[in-house]
Amino acid sequence: MDTTSPLAHTARSHGAEKPQTPSNPFAHLDGAADDAQRRVIRYLDAAATHPEIQRMRSAAHEMFAPAPGERLLDIGCGAGEVARQLAARVGAAGSVAAVDQSALAVSVAESRHDGTSVDYSVGDITALDFPSGHFDGVRCERVLQHLPDPDLAVKELIRVTRPGGRVCVIDTDWTSFVWDGFDHMADVAEQFPFPHPAAGRTARARMVKAGLGATTTLPVTLRFTVPEDAAAVVPFFDDEALRICVQPELTERFFTSVRQSAERGDFLFAFTMWITMGRVAAA
Ligand SMILES: C[S@@+](CC[C@H](N)C(=O)[O-])C[C@H]1O[C@@H](n2cnc3c(N)ncnc32)[C@H](O)[C@@H]1O
Repeated sequence: MDTTSPLAHTARSHGAEKPQTPSNPFAHLDGAADDAQRRVIRYLDAAATHPEIQRMRSAAHEMFAPAPGERLLDIGCGAGEVARQLAARVGAAGSVAAVDQSALAVSVAESRHDGTSVDYSVGDITALDFPSGHFDGVRCERVLQHLPDPDLAVKELIRVTRPGGRVCVIDTDWTSFVWDGFDHMADVAEQFPFPHPAAGRTARARMVKAGLGATTTLPVTLRFTVPEDAAAVVPFFDDEALRICVQPELTERFFTSVRQSAERGDFLFAFTMWITMGRVAAA
């Protein structure tokens, strides 16, 4: 079975007698096949330059409000794009730790280092190698949805944040999608086994339960009017992911309908990401 799509998550093989569960390359990038590794990095790059992701990130920057001189953490930093943006904001007097569990992601991030004050390292979000209260602010984008235990991760983010500091979690709600112009969307989505499809929407409750105060949350709805453009961010329109996760006959019907919609010019798809921030209680 092909396990190369970065978007296929714990895909089931519909052609096989027994469902199989290849590992999610976003959760285990270093152990993934070379091709899957390349696809993950390509996906992260495509997402980073996509105008809808940039719009969402700019709202997240506004809420997180990095300030000169601060010590910040971007956990699950991927290729380090956001860490470098944060470093530009904190300036030479501040610092940003860019941490990812994947040595490959960290080496790609390091290879793009731009001279700003970013320290790159490998680490697990549930057991970070930093003292308690070390950071003024911690940011975590699109990581909780891939974890076995997101609550454990939220606790660790709080532990490494100083009293009065902030924890900002950004994640997707893959159950929030709406569409128009084409058919079979709900059937296709049903066959995508996301580990935590509602990670974005449930982040606030997780953070409140873990004791963060002044928790505020902002939904940002991303919208797409061209299928190829959506495919850069949304697995439902990614050829490879569909091939792995969805029955071939349904895939064919779905893509035919999507293609016809694109030809008519009435394709529409949207989903919501949530930016949620809370403060650690002052000492
Ligand atoms: C979808 S990518 C998001 C990357 C980056 N935050 C972004 O928005 O471009 C998920 C990242 O989380 C990392 N990751 C997954 N599990 C992790 C863990 N337990 N600890 C730290 N990072 C993890 C992956 O290696 C991957 O780089």
